[in-house]
Amino acid sequence: MTRIVYCNGEYLPEAEAKVSIFDRGFLMADGVYEVTSVIGGKLIDFDGHAKRLERSLSELEMRNPVSMDELLQIHRDLIEKNALVEGGIYLQITRGAPSDRDFAWPNPDEVKGGLVLFTFAKNLVEMPSVKTGIKVISIEDIRWGRRDIKTVQLLYPSWGKMMAKKKGCDDAWMVEDGFVTEGTSNNAYIVKGNKIITRGLSNDILHGITRAAILRFAAEAQMEVEERNFTIAEAQEADEAFITSATTFVQPVVEIDGAKIGEGVPGKLSLRLREIYIEESLKSAV
Ligand code: PDD
Repeated sequence: MTRIVYCNGEYLPEAEAKVSIFDRGFLMADGVYEVTSVIGGKLIDFDGHAKRLERSLSELEMRNPVSMDELLQIHRDLIEKNALVEGGIYLQITRGAPSDRDFAWPNPDEVKGGLVLFTFAKNLVEMPSVKTGIKVISIEDIRWGRRDIKTVQLLYPSWGKMMAKKKGCDDAWMVEDGFVTEGTSNNAYIVKGNKIITRGLSNDILHGITRAAILRFAAEAQMEVEERNFTIAEAQEADEAFITSATTFVQPVVEIDGAKIGEGVPGKLSLRLREIYIEESLKSAV
């Protein structure tokens, strides 16, 4: 089955979808994105992703080429056209394609933003890595200072993932001034006893939509939550560690820089939290 994607107002077979070489997303990483997960053909936390998208756009003085209602409809159309049951939808808005390359931003009244969306199928509920846990390495966080904006400039996170792979690991946790910021494409947590520790929100990390839900569900389940900085050394001594994102939900981390976390197997609290997340977020899926 050929995948049908959305490209600047049209639904097209993926091979027919084209964007201009002058698109600023392509030339300057001048674009923002969202990834929303789909389970049972329904969108998980669409509202959360829509709000963060609006914030990313407004921070960069970009316009949404369509309304949020239209955006929800496009998500739904793509799920239907591709008979997507489980996986996600990638959405990208760029500052559009002016007639040439220019550092100055084009006038938004003259150049409309670019909008593309595509689906991807992926098993999210049953993931083998949940049973084994993942291994991470630590790397210096040398990204720019506005990581709260979900931009498409992902070269360093993608490079970090490769550094991890070269060492036989799955992902990298980034460290700035001695403290963990986040994973290359996820938020990072450690667990001590009944307490979940994760870095507080600021411009230093992406404000994960899964993170917000997890912290809410954890508090409801009488788990303690502490939002503060932690080091790699503290993480290596923790009882459990895990990551969260729309494409992984909760994934246990069993090794950091070669040191086993706890017994070196997925932690009980992390797995419980994963179950709660899937159960609860399905209730508000649209
Ligand atoms: N990444 N931190 C970073 C740097 C991320 O790229 C992501 C998401 C997260 C988690 O955010 P959320 O819970 O809203 O997915 C944290 C997406 C999944 C990606 O780039 O594919």
